[in-house]
Order: sequence, then structure tokens, then C-alpha cells
Amino acid sequence: MTEIEVIELLKQHIDEYDAPVDARELIRFSAGDEEKLKECIERRISGEPLQYIIGEWDFYNCNFRVGEGVLIPRPETELLVDTALDFLAENFSQDGDDATSMIYKVVYGTRVRGEYVLPNEGYGVARVLDLCSGSGCIAISIAKNFANSKVFAIEKSSQAFEYLKQNVALNRVKNVVPFNDDIVTGCQNLIGASKGQFDLIVSNPPYVKSAECDELQREVLKEPRMALDGGEDGLDFYRVIANRWLPLLKSGGMLIMECGEDQAVAIEEILSATSCGQTFILDDFAGISRVVGIKMY
Ligand SMILES: C[S@@+](CC[C@H](N)C(=O)[O-])C[C@H]1O[C@@H](n2cnc3c(N)ncnc32)[C@H](O)[C@@H]1O
Repeated sequence: MTEIEVIELLKQHIDEYDAPVDARELIRFSAGDEEKLKECIERRISGEPLQYIIGEWDFYNCNFRVGEGVLIPRPETELLVDTALDFLAENFSQDGDDATSMIYKVVYGTRVRGEYVLPNEGYGVARVLDLCSGSGCIAISIAKNFANSKVFAIEKSSQAFEYLKQNVALNRVKNVVPFNDDIVTGCQNLIGASKGQFDLIVSNPPYVKSAECDELQREVLKEPRMALDGGEDGLDFYRVIANRWLPLLKSGGMLIMECGEDQAVAIEEILSATSCGQTFILDDFAGISRVVGIKMY
């Protein structure tokens, strides 16, 4: 089949804007095997996401294995990673004394006895927590782009956790520590031993209202409900993170979380009620309030 034929066929069943990209990816993935291409097209027509069929997806500058049981990394989540990397660059030295590290020091540092020093340079390795890690796309992107960090990645679903471990190996990051645990009811040892120990907490938790979970787009319905369902008002995980996990941050540390459209103000109120720091909201490339955070006093 030609690319045009595949596009025309797909257009009859999926979003017409997705058809050209999906056609190209399925043709590339089938590598000239017509039978395999037909099988892939059938799966795509039946509503299976393209990413599950080809088994991988790019996010930030990394590649991730994905499939049934794990959320597909979304482009809007890159804002969370950008924000995390900016915070780390402003507060920690990168490894080594390369040119980039020197520029950060000159821009963000202060001059002490002729040397530029970053505010938290004495802290050494940045300690980062990624709650609800899924494929590990956030944890791994941070770890890979900021070598002077140790990222603890927590995920409850055993299916997603297998992808997380695979992706750590695939991306050859030695500074990610995966935990298969529940951030709502578990992690007692980690929480007990880590009060005020972390520099940065990041999370893209489930945030869809329970009642809306069955009405999502056909492709999204193939993704795990555990990755989507954020409780009655969609905000359950934000409350848990504010109450249970915020105390793990150091003074000057930061929590940043992704949220759904129209949720940012309510989440900022949850964070403000802790009276722990200065809250903020950031917009994504589409102008939607997408990241909510708090910088600890
Ligand atoms: C919205 S997905 C985000 C996944 C990934 N961080 C990303 O950005 O693509 C939320 C993740 O939280 C996980 N999860 C749900 N409930 C959890 C819990 N109680 N403890 C830990 N992880 C949980 C889900 O399995 C899913 O992988």
C-alpha cells in the first residue's frame, strides 16, 4: 500500500489530522512487510493508540518503551521537565566545569573570592522525587539532562513499573531509583526518613474527574484508568501530595505538578493553604495553565 492509500484509509476512522503522521509511523514500523502493515492498520482503526502499536515514543530528548498498562508521555508534560531543569540549573552545579556549567554560574551565582558560586552549591547532588512516575518520562528526562541529580521515581501500577524499569535501562541512566509503591497509602519508610531532605518534587498525577473517565477520547480509554482517575473532583492526588509529601522538601526546595485545564487555581489554593511557601502557575505552549508549584520558604 502507498502512503496516500494508508492515509485515506485511516482518515475514515481516526482524527484526520493524525492520519498522515500515523500512516508514516506505521509504514516505517512495518519495514516493507505488507501483512504486518495491514495488521497495524486494523489495530489503529480499532482505536488502539499509535504509540502502543509501535511500542515506543519520544519525549523530551529521550525514547521510551510504552504499551498497554502505561500512560503515553504527552508533549505538554515537557513544560514540567523544563521547569524542573531550570530550577536545578539555578541552584546546583552541573557535573564538571564545562562551558554550560560556567555560564549558569555566572548568570545565577554570586562572586565569592573571585569564583562564581551557586546558592545551593554546598548541597552537592540534587535530590529529586517523581511521584506517579508511569513510564518514567519525567524522572528519566530530568536525570539524563541533569547528571548531578538523584531521582527517586515512585509508581504503584506493577504493569507501568515494568516499563519504568525498562526505560531506565534503555536510557542508561544510573541516577534514577525506581520504587514500586503507593504514594497515597504506602512509602512509610521513605517518608519517615526523608523529612526536609528533598530539593525538588515533581508529579504528573491522575487528574481526570472520576465521572468523566468513561467519556474520554477512544484512544485515551485504552490507557489505564489508574493513570487518569483523580477522584470525584480530579484533585485527590494534589491534596495527598500537599499534605503527605510537601514536608519532605528542604527550605528553598520546590514542588511542581502538572494539572488539567481549569484546575490550576483550585490546586494553587490547596498549596497556599499549607502556608509553606510562594505558589505559582505556568502556562503551556497552548496558553493553558498547566503547571502549579510552590517554592518553600
Ligand atoms: C497521569 S499518569 C503520569 C505518568 C507519567 N508521570 C507521565 O507524565 O507520563 C499517573 C501515574 O500515576 C500512577 N498512580 C496512580 N495511583 C498511584 C498511587 N496511589 N501511587 C503511585 N502511583 C500512582 C499511575 O499508574 C500512572 O502511571
